[in-house]
Amino acid sequence: MARISDEDVRRVRDATDLVSLVQERVMLKQKGRLFWGCCPFHQEKTPSFKIDPATQLWHCFGCGVGGDVYGYVMRTDGVDFIEAVRLLADRAHIEIAEEAGGVPRSLRERLIAATEAAASFYHDNLTKSPEKGASAAREYLQKRDFGSEVARTWRLGFAPGRGALVRHLTKAGFSADEIVGANLALKGDNGQLKDRFYERIMFPIADLQGRTIAFGGRVVGSGEPKYLNTQDTPIFHKSANMYGIDRAKALITSSGMAIVVEGYTDVIALHEAGVANAVATLGTALTREHVRLLSRFAKRVVYLFDGDAAGLRAADRASEFIDKSITPEAGRDRVELFVAVIPGGQDPADFVAAQGAEALADAVADAAPLLQFSIDRRLARWDLDRPEERSRALKEAAQVLAPIKDSLLADDYANYIADRLFADVGTVKRAIGAARPLATSVAAEGGEGSLAEPSLRDSPQVRLERDLLDLLVRTPRLRRRARFLLSENLLTEPAHRAIAEGIAQEGADMPADVLVGRLEASLPGAAAVLSGGTFGDVADEDAEAVERDMARKLKEFDLERRIAVGKARLKQPASFKEPAEYDELFKNVSALQRELEEYRSGVRDVG
Ligand code: CTP
Ligand code: MN
Repeated sequence: MARISDEDVRRVRDATDLVSLVQERVMLKQKGRLFWGCCPFHQEKTPSFKIDPATQLWHCFGCGVGGDVYGYVMRTDGVDFIEAVRLLADRAHIEIAEEAGGVPRSLRERLIAATEAAASFYHDNLTKSPEKGASAAREYLQKRDFGSEVARTWRLGFAPGRGALVRHLTKAGFSADEIVGANLALKGDNGQLKDRFYERIMFPIADLQGRTIAFGGRVVGSGEPKYLNTQDTPIFHKSANMYGIDRAKALITSSGMAIVVEGYTDVIALHEAGVANAVATLGTALTREHVRLLSRFAKRVVYLFDGDAAGLRAADRASEFIDKSITPEAGRDRVELFVAVIPGGQDPADFVAAQGAEALADAVADAAPLLQFSIDRRLARWDLDRPEERSRALKEAAQVLAPIKDSLLADDYANYIADRLFADVGTVKRAIGAARPLATSVAAEGGEGSLAEPSLRDSPQVRLERDLLDLLVRTPRLRRRARFLLSENLLTEPAHRAIAEGIAQEGADMPADVLVGRLEASLPGAAAVLSGGTFGDVADEDAEAVERDMARKLKEFDLERRIAVGKARLKQPASFKEPAEYDELFKNVSALQRELEEYRSGVRDVG
């Protein structure tokens, strides 16, 4: 794993302004201290996404997520933390030194640059070259309704071969190692470089930011192999990248759904028809890494298979994705997988050309949940009118549910299978209990060492605690109050106590965003907690009074809690060994009640 020093993480954070970054994709409106806009992570018409320029934190009250500038980039670009730092470093023109492990940044950059240069070269060839190969490629694409407009949008190209790319890249200053490293050429026995792709139509494969990192190359017309793809390189992993993801991610995010198809041409045809949330795997079946990638943008994934025999075989393998990540018990990590097979033996591109985008939308809407699809496919292999075949069918259908035996979903589908087989549910459940999984499921990874994300439905107490911490972060002279909150035991949430500890330690005069950066560095997740502050404007001169009000309210919550505990105990007189103990507690509770009254009426105030 590459590592970036804390110092660099801090420098990049300091150099980035969250408001202008968000403004690159969201219209923001300033109201008082805060900026508001429509959340880029879910579809909404009235803005519930706020940015606090003082703390450099964002939060959406609609979907309940928030965090700092890195969390924002991780979500919008679907990248991990390291990549988010790299991206913002690029944006701020800051050089960061990455520590050992992983591919050195400079090499990655060179390989991407070489691949980008190759994409331009191929594209120029396709669109401008007068040679026979290129014009045949143009004609072929035209015949398939991929005219010059489509070629430009998707930066399609033509690889002439015969060393033309190697010569071009060498002249542009790329070394043999770089050209081979990006799998753009192969080294022959004599040590000479040979273009990897020749006389092929080139589909550039981009990373999430739209930088070309690989190619799929199709023969012009017919020939074998039909497609030749870039092999895995330090910048490209076919089991983790998806064709079209850079263009599809926005609609995937806002529609909440990703459509996965098998072919490059399917992606292009679908996008051109307005179905711009489609992506394709790269000559492999869908992997868990693909699903994880998509699930950063949407929790609903529809896997569309070609209607031919190969498509159906692939569809059957989708049952390998059955594991606890698709069950309701997975909570917010749940991914809902749906499967549909294009009718009439067509692929999505043919289908959308013949029937139109509406028909395709219908096919997507008719997609079956993966479990149902897998069960139906198994049942369809047997003649359910024959008792002996029915029992084989039951066994196979039960196997589908084996990986999620303990989920509520297994019960739902036990009923479904029972209905289909005219069997008794108990029998089906026993079959499920006895079934062994078809494929071993991959254990879910758990996050470690970070603060839990705040729940969507926080109690008034939890909200108040968070708002108060937010106020302390924004108002340096009030930060010493963090100690007071801790010593008086006014914070009930462990995450809030940890943050208050951090404020008390770092405290002092640093600007709010710097403090947030420090807190996040020592307590990952602190930014996401603090971003949820619901507080509007507080005039600076009012800050003390507001803080006191909030602390007093927390004190009242604390007293109410202690009174409730005491009262509950007093309701069970039998639990006291000595009558004096009862009297003692009674007096205590009365005193707490008086104290609470004094706070409420304003006679008393917090220290
Ligand atoms: N594929 C591959 N190697 C092959 C054949 C296919 O890598 N020899 C991959 C490609 O990613 C291709 C996908 O599988 O896009 C689907 O294959 P297919 O349906 O045959 O290709 P289409 O994309 O539909 O291409 P076309 O419409 O041009 O035939
Ligand atoms: Mn196809």
